[in-house]
Amino acid sequence: MQCKTICFCTTAIVKRLPIFANMDKILDSFGRPLQYLRLAVTDRCNLRCFYCMPAEGIDYVPRQELLSYEEMLRLTRIFVQLGVTKIRLTGGEPFVRHNFYGFLKRLTKIEGLDKIAITTNGSVASKHIPFLKEIGITSINLSLDTLNKEKFAEITRRDFFDQAMATYHSVLDAGIKLSVNMVVMEGRNIEDIIPMAMLTKNDAVTVRYIEEMPFNGKGARNTIGYNHRKILETLESNLPVLFPLTFEHGTTAQEYSIDGHKGRVGIIAAWSRTFCSSCNRIRVTATGQMKNCLYDNGVLNIKRMLTDGSSDKMICEAIKAGYSKKYKNGIEAEAKQANPISESMSSIGG
Ligand code: 5AD
Ligand code: SF4
Repeated sequence: MQCKTICFCTTAIVKRLPIFANMDKILDSFGRPLQYLRLAVTDRCNLRCFYCMPAEGIDYVPRQELLSYEEMLRLTRIFVQLGVTKIRLTGGEPFVRHNFYGFLKRLTKIEGLDKIAITTNGSVASKHIPFLKEIGITSINLSLDTLNKEKFAEITRRDFFDQAMATYHSVLDAGIKLSVNMVVMEGRNIEDIIPMAMLTKNDAVTVRYIEEMPFNGKGARNTIGYNHRKILETLESNLPVLFPLTFEHGTTAQEYSIDGHKGRVGIIAAWSRTFCSSCNRIRVTATGQMKNCLYDNGVLNIKRMLTDGSSDKMICEAIKAGYSKKYKNGIEAEAKQANPISESMSSIGG
């Protein structure tokens, strides 16, 4: 198959970028470049956040069906060749996978990755944050939906609040860029919106409010109601003046600085899907399914190609073909699926 290759050199703006003889960047059919890979390293998690999983958990896939670290490293090198400069490691909870630190050490040696980020629930990571700084992890997103210990236990169905807060402080102390993800849930944590925003008063943190999506392992939608407009109204009516910051291409959060605050707040319209026009990302699930969008059911089984003797070139071509199928936006992607959403965010990769 003939590849839709567009070659252009941006080496000057990317740190640690090697000179690839055949750097072939790819665009989807709407002209959006692929730059950002979200790689789930496991579908396992030690929490049971009710917006992500039912109380009894989800059926985890057999270990042998997960991508191995070796496969993830190979895949990452392939994606870098295709123009990816940013990677985010997600889960499940990435830090519960055995020898995740060893994997990170090898990943950070791959040339061409400008940003290496991790999303974590913070429950088991706090002691190792200085190591993450040392090896070059550039940012951490911490899932934290409340500052109230009891409510944390209700939402996550586990008692890890103190550990999550220890991670929060370790990341700040280490000088790694920190964002906090709060899923906004009507009837659960609306009253926590402002206390969470107050973290930004003295801490250089970005508190990001995420619209709840139905990726809870059951497809239940009845709680979704507090959208990005309501979140903004709540912030504006309770805080000093908010200044909207220029929307950064390829991101999902509209960020605001706050008069007199060191940090920022951001709103992610994850359910309203207002940011799709500049989407530059793909997801690879822990079992190696490539997804162009949270809302599609996968466009390529990369695990199969990584184990059946396919060459890197063959995998590149398959990724290009898969990426060219990216829908215009998440609304369209959802509409094209045969079944309504019911997956857990933990098996998709957050
Ligand atoms: N809706 C919105 N955000 C979710 N996350 C997990 N499940 C959902 C959901 N149903 C977010 C969490 C976590 C990230 C991995 O995804 O905040 O930080
Ligand atoms: Fe685990 Fe994250 Fe899902 Fe919570 S949202 S259960 S921390 S994967």
